[in-house]
Amino acid sequence: MEVIHIAALGLAMAASVRAGPTFYRDVAPILQQHCQTCHRPGEPVPMPLMDYQQAKSWAGAIERAVTARQMPPWFADPAVGHFANERSLSGAEIRTISQWVAAGTPAGNPKDATKPVHWTEGWSIGKPELIFELPADVPVPAAGVLPYRYVIVPTHFKQDTWVRLAEVRPGDRLHTHHIVVSVREPDSRWLSGMPVGKPFTLGERDSGGGMPGEFLAGFGPGAVPELLGPGEAKLIKAGSDLVFQLHYTTDGQPGCDRSRIGLVLAHEPPRRRVVMLAAANVRFRIPAGDPDYVLKASVTLHSESTLISLLPHMHLRGKAFEFRVVFPDGRTETLLRVPHYSYHWQLSYYLAKPMVLPAGTRIECTAHYDNSAANPLNPDPTKTLKFGPQSWDEMMIGYFEVATDLENGMEELLTS
Ligand code: HEC
Repeated sequence: MEVIHIAALGLAMAASVRAGPTFYRDVAPILQQHCQTCHRPGEPVPMPLMDYQQAKSWAGAIERAVTARQMPPWFADPAVGHFANERSLSGAEIRTISQWVAAGTPAGNPKDATKPVHWTEGWSIGKPELIFELPADVPVPAAGVLPYRYVIVPTHFKQDTWVRLAEVRPGDRLHTHHIVVSVREPDSRWLSGMPVGKPFTLGERDSGGGMPGEFLAGFGPGAVPELLGPGEAKLIKAGSDLVFQLHYTTDGQPGCDRSRIGLVLAHEPPRRRVVMLAAANVRFRIPAGDPDYVLKASVTLHSESTLISLLPHMHLRGKAFEFRVVFPDGRTETLLRVPHYSYHWQLSYYLAKPMVLPAGTRIECTAHYDNSAANPLNPDPTKTLKFGPQSWDEMMIGYFEVATDLENGMEELLTS
């Protein structure tokens, strides 16, 4: 009896030794799939997680970050919606990492390894066909709070140009908080009278006159690469300018930035135009000390379109955000719920199944703010907050992208 028992135990132990996770067989594929988009050389993250040595030397921090679900960054309530770029780990994947760390980070057999993913250093969109660069270095001083800077860069496009992929790369990553590149169409009044090719700033609550241009691409913490479907593209009309909005932060060392945007063009005639829209609330006062102030915003679409992605945007008091859709027949559905918003991650959520929105559909956003002292990010709980560009002002914007008929732009979609 005793002997059988011990033998069984031995077998079980042998089995568990064989089955214990190893780096090459079990851990490397998780890092490839869920971590290396960010944790690879040339990306703005503290350490690459590309090989055994790197993973082993960070093993303790990796285990802490994944079991606390801090990494990979992902904030959608799993009970609502399904997203194509969902990157959180399953319970089984987290257990694999914990067991691997507990077993002393065994390497296993390199022959078990899956093929390494080939990441293009620099551009995530592959080699761009066109690159537009700031025409001169923008100096970043060593200290102080910097207003947003704008640089207008002409495209000199002689014909309408359809863009499949666009990516913004900062020249000075250390000092770049975020960059937004928008398209200014030739007949736009936005930023009229401003210099071309030279950095300028706007007043605190000045949007530059006219309707701001359409968002083309951005760089910022957690920004995810665009995921467009077949036949979908963004339009840059002939004669348009690109407007770089640049937000730098200072850290005691001066810097110097020459940011770029790379474009991959559509080679087949596009079937659907992709447009970034937003439901925004810009007239508000969030009372000092309020632990749960609620703001709402909504927009109605006047043409049929297909919803592709969602991007909640708030600043340091942002606490939670929700997108809902209200169909013309009154049916409603929650699209995304972010119960614990973090200003440090500006994530886009791409719908796993893009959703058709008939003309007359409303997108409604609800945002919650914690302006109390209990919010650890709150720089000043005694301040009443208004809309403004700096992180200690607030914002309430629900960005969303739709694919629509080729002749529809922002104005056609939003004005009846
Ligand atoms: C969207 C980009 C992104 C992805 C995907 C991502 N990380 Fe990170 N990670 C970061 C950034 C940026 C930081 C540094 C800023 C911070 O700590 O918040 C970081 C920090 C870390 C840290 C240091 C945390 C600490 O102790 O300070 C660890 C460990 C880590 N990541 C592990 C992982 C692992 C493991 C994965 C995959 C399972 C992963 N990350 C996926 C961007 C990412």
